[in-house]
Amino acid sequence: MLTAPKIKAMKGSSKITMLTAYEYLTASYLEKAGVDIILVGDSLGMVFQGEKETLPVTVDEIIYHAKAVRRGAPATMVAVDMPFMSYQASVEQAMGNGGKIIKQSRANCLKLEGGVEICPQIRALVKAGIPVVGHIGLQPQSVNFYGGYPVQGVLAADAQRLINDARELEKAGVFAIVVEKVKASTTKKITAAVNVPVIGIGAGPHCDGQVLVTHDMLGAFVDFKPSFVKLYEKQAMRSIGAIKRFSADVKRSAFPSKKYYY
Ligand code: KIV
Repeated sequence: MLTAPKIKAMKGSSKITMLTAYEYLTASYLEKAGVDIILVGDSLGMVFQGEKETLPVTVDEIIYHAKAVRRGAPATMVAVDMPFMSYQASVEQAMGNGGKIIKQSRANCLKLEGGVEICPQIRALVKAGIPVVGHIGLQPQSVNFYGGYPVQGVLAADAQRLINDARELEKAGVFAIVVEKVKASTTKKITAAVNVPVIGIGAGPHCDGQVLVTHDMLGAFVDFKPSFVKLYEKQAMRSIGAIKRFSADVKRSAFPSKKYYY
């Protein structure tokens, strides 16, 4: 299994792959395919629970999903998102919830959205022996603050703030940083500014690795595809087609045929 120090050492030598999973079966596919890191993202709010945002996801829900992912991918690094308002309030809150997630799920590390303002929480978690991945750029937990999901790091001042955040996260002890929906030229500067790997999503090619939501890249949604997602499958169309064929077979009494009963 890749560990936090091994992932950190991949910067500059090997690109890092990260994909999401929320349950056993997808996790087992990701492990069989040799993905470096499986992320139990709070995107489960949208992808699994059908919510509009990540905000409603709770600590107990993410633990439930992370346990299933752990069982499906026992030999792969599993990272778990700390849900909205499970760590922002204080170091004590982050330690309590972060410790509970790692203890109960048996995941390997945590991911926290935020920059310089959450460095005290990150320092405390790392000091307690919990590896942490940072997450800057677009922070979906701040959707109400942004009023949507705008591209980040476009203005010079914004770009500088992100570079500063990345440097502070590195000083606080993160072993990697996810950079989401950031202008590619800004991501390039962030990647050059830190010695830990930058894992991009919608952040261009100048990263040390890439992360996507698995359901997005597999085409599991009928009508949702962010512009930065490359479709590697057409899972929704294929699945709906298969279900229609099953229904048609049942309606015309073609299933079960002799081969399929005792
Ligand atoms: O929640 C999530 O899936 C994420 C990725 C999009 C990076 O944070």
